[in-house]
Amino acid sequence: MTDKERIDWLRSELTRHNYNYYVKNAPEITDQEFDRMMHELLSLEAAHPEWDDDTSPSRRVGSDLSHEFEQVAHRYPMLSLDNTYNRDEVGAFYQRVSAGLDGEPFDLCCELKFDGLSISLTYEDGRLVRAVTRGDGVRGDDVTENIRTIRSVPLRLAPGGAWPASFEMRGEVLMPWDSFERLNREREAREEPLFANPRNAASGTLKSKNSAVVARRGLDAYFYYVLGDALPSDSHYENVRAAASWGFRVSEAMRRVRTLDEVYAFIDYWDTERRRLPVATDGIVLKVDSLSQQRRLGLTAKSPRWAIAYKFQAERERTRLVEVTYQVGRTGAVTPVANMDPVQLAGTVVRRASLHNEDIMRQLDLHEGDWVYVEKAGEIIPQVVGVDAAARAAGAQPVRFITHCPECGTALVRYEGEAATYCPNDATCPPQLKGRIEHFISRDAMDISQLGPETVDDYYGRGLIRDAADLYDIRTEDINGADGTRQRSAERIVEGIARSRSVPFERVVYALGIRFVGKVVAKQLARHFGDIDALMAARLDDLLQVEGVGTVIAQSVMAYFAREENRRFVERLRRAGLKMAVEQAEAASDRLAGKTIVISGTFSQHTREEYKTLIERHGGKNAGSISGKTSFVLAGENMGPAKLEKAAKAGVPLVSEAEFLAMIE
Ligand code: IVH
Repeated sequence: MTDKERIDWLRSELTRHNYNYYVKNAPEITDQEFDRMMHELLSLEAAHPEWDDDTSPSRRVGSDLSHEFEQVAHRYPMLSLDNTYNRDEVGAFYQRVSAGLDGEPFDLCCELKFDGLSISLTYEDGRLVRAVTRGDGVRGDDVTENIRTIRSVPLRLAPGGAWPASFEMRGEVLMPWDSFERLNREREAREEPLFANPRNAASGTLKSKNSAVVARRGLDAYFYYVLGDALPSDSHYENVRAAASWGFRVSEAMRRVRTLDEVYAFIDYWDTERRRLPVATDGIVLKVDSLSQQRRLGLTAKSPRWAIAYKFQAERERTRLVEVTYQVGRTGAVTPVANMDPVQLAGTVVRRASLHNEDIMRQLDLHEGDWVYVEKAGEIIPQVVGVDAAARAAGAQPVRFITHCPECGTALVRYEGEAATYCPNDATCPPQLKGRIEHFISRDAMDISQLGPETVDDYYGRGLIRDAADLYDIRTEDINGADGTRQRSAERIVEGIARSRSVPFERVVYALGIRFVGKVVAKQLARHFGDIDALMAARLDDLLQVEGVGTVIAQSVMAYFAREENRRFVERLRRAGLKMAVEQAEAASDRLAGKTIVISGTFSQHTREEYKTLIERHGGKNAGSISGKTSFVLAGENMGPAKLEKAAKAGVPLVSEAEFLAMIE
């Protein structure tokens, strides 16, 4: 096979496996095998830029290059739907359609109403050429690069399929609940503002200028509308089913029905059953199935006469606002919290709800003692969604965001372009100091599990610690006896602190708590610079060389080390004996994590011993003989026939020296 043939073959195989995995949920190969093929494709593509192709499955990883969105006109305007919350209006819609068709029989297609962002994809000759957001319905943003990272969106349709040469596919970009919850957990850990619901998260993600971010966030898409001049059928339902066979993710819930009773049965079923779906839905959509009947019914100014959306009632309760309190986090971010009279909502009692930030709080226009509405977005996080202004007492005062830190009294600040309000007093504001120590001892940082928020609070209160470096001065006699801590547990705490001296450098970097420097970035920084002195001396350009580091992170790192007190803190940690450099044997990457590799044959670039070390440094395991557990054989020249046969029998792939080096590069 020539390189070109190999590239084509890998692209079509990876495309097929992507579809099997993400759309059909029926993978045929292991993740390892998929990764191996992807690595091979990436290295071949790097060697042959002349065969570049936008629809290559390798494009799904996205790019860090920032791009502005271009405004593009829709070929067919993107209309919206008439909404109703009322079942009688569904009946009225049915009658209107019937009258509009002069009593002729008609079918309705019942679908779920997905709660995300609508998107229009253009396919030419089976290739995705453009993805545009709804925008104002006439023009939208070209978000093609970001859409390419969504694994369930076909970049290229299977050859030989009955798809039209040119068509548009409309659907909804969504963030599944599990991605949404993971994202919010990560944001919470970094004290970044949370997304209120998956739709906001999907929208924020899709508008990201960095498609590598989009690729990581786990978006998905469902498609529900095919547009074009040469569609397979006059039936909307059939066209969408056909699109499913071309490779699009289409909801299994779609039903074609005749009677109003069937419509109501569909509504009733999904009103409860939707809670089990992996994505958010907010209602159902009814569409007249026949395209020719759709044309006869026509459009109003904004929406088609042949469709209607019935929205589910969100679970919502009314309760009384008691007060707004403010929480100060480790970064100094101040979060307003609504404290309310307890109210039962979707199975739990709700007393408190985050108001997120000053702007969101202002939009609600809260007044003291207001009656507020709380909803559970997707039955998880309670939200204050509005105020019953009619029930407001005369003369009630508006609730104003505080101007000074409730913990230390410092005047609060807001930085340009940021939604959060901060207490700038990171030197002495207690929750910030304690929060930083809690971060320092946390599992992914120094992992001092003998300490926790209560002990930190206690030691802080007794003046034993003001920052994390003070931990290393604590002696058993300082904590023994106090608060009932006995000799043995005091010893254990001091031992636990002492043991943290052997925590690897990358976690020390993370433990410093530099803003925006999460675990992954800390690891990259540690590996790139090797030791703390090089990291502290790094300039903007040096930092931008590091994978995953953009200007925001780079500036935050520089700002951290520019401050004298932080440099002093680092020096005290160094004197306390913490690791301030990567160790030679320390892992270089985790590219081979979970892989068991057998080395066989002779090599030209490194010795076998060196390959063993390389495997370990990249997180893999070296094994002596081939078995079902072997992930692949690193195969050099002159591999013996017995081994070759054994590998073939066990279905273990062979990886050449060059492919292996490309993998760990
Ligand atoms: S059809 C002319 N079908 O709801 C008909 N829309 O309020 C165009 N939506 O902008 C849309 N699920 O973002 C259609 N099964 C579905 C839908 C759906 C969600 C969204 C879509 C649209 C909005 C209309």
